[in-house]
Amino acid sequence: MFKHEFFEKNSIFLTIGILVVVAIGGIVEIAPLYWLKSTIEEVKGMRPYSPLELAGRNIYIREGCYVCHSQQIRSLRDEVERYGHYSLAAESMYDHPFQWGSKRTGPDLARVGGRYSDEWHVAHMIDPRSIVPESIMPGYPFLAENKLSYEDIQGHLKANRTVGVPYTDEMIENAIADLEAQANPDEGDIDALQERYPKAVARVFDGDERRITELDALIAYLQMLGTLVEFDSFDAAANSR
Ligand code: HEC
Repeated sequence: MFKHEFFEKNSIFLTIGILVVVAIGGIVEIAPLYWLKSTIEEVKGMRPYSPLELAGRNIYIREGCYVCHSQQIRSLRDEVERYGHYSLAAESMYDHPFQWGSKRTGPDLARVGGRYSDEWHVAHMIDPRSIVPESIMPGYPFLAENKLSYEDIQGHLKANRTVGVPYTDEMIENAIADLEAQANPDEGDIDALQERYPKAVARVFDGDERRITELDALIAYLQMLGTLVEFDSFDAAANSR
């Protein structure tokens, strides 16, 4: 029999013994992470945000939309039936910081992209109760008035690159042109935009092509949420192998 008595009578050795045992468990759990290339499985379709979408995302964060909205569909049946395919880790891999949220006063927005028209979003953002009479969401009419300030958008791309988002020099160089093209497709080079950001939707989001507003950027962001991954070809079982 092992002599417990020694440890039970010498608290210092008992403490050291506990630390050794716990450390073994810790190493077994943590060490493999250093040998994995990535803990996020790759998924077809994911790409960094286009400059306009990134600007919209910044407004989403500035206005605190995450206080009432999550962007994380759990793998539970009721969630999947309401919102669509459960969220994949890869879908937030270019989010710094991620927008999973911890509270749902309003619905989850992880797959709101394409669910409503731009006109719906414009009316809803300006006055939610004009669309959903019982809504308690505040209106954001000033977004439609505020011109989007995007002189510094290249800096935002660069900052994201610093933390690991694969923006290329070419993307950074063309950030302003891409942003303007996406919000005003008649005057920009859409092919170049979509070459850099596949599936980027270029439209006059707020219905006013004369200027680029904060609402343009926010709706561009909302309309792409959850639309990148090609779920037709996504096989969760194959990915976990
Ligand atoms: C005080 C909480 C609150 C805040 C803050 C808030 N919302 Fe909402 N939001 C709601 C509620 C409640 C609903 C559901 C009723 C409705 O559609 O208006 C909603 C609905 C929505 C919808 C429609 C979702 C769907 O699937 O029908 C969108 C899009 C949306 N919000 C975007 C935003 C954005 C963008 C912001 C930040 C600028 C924001 N919300 C801030 C509470 C909030």
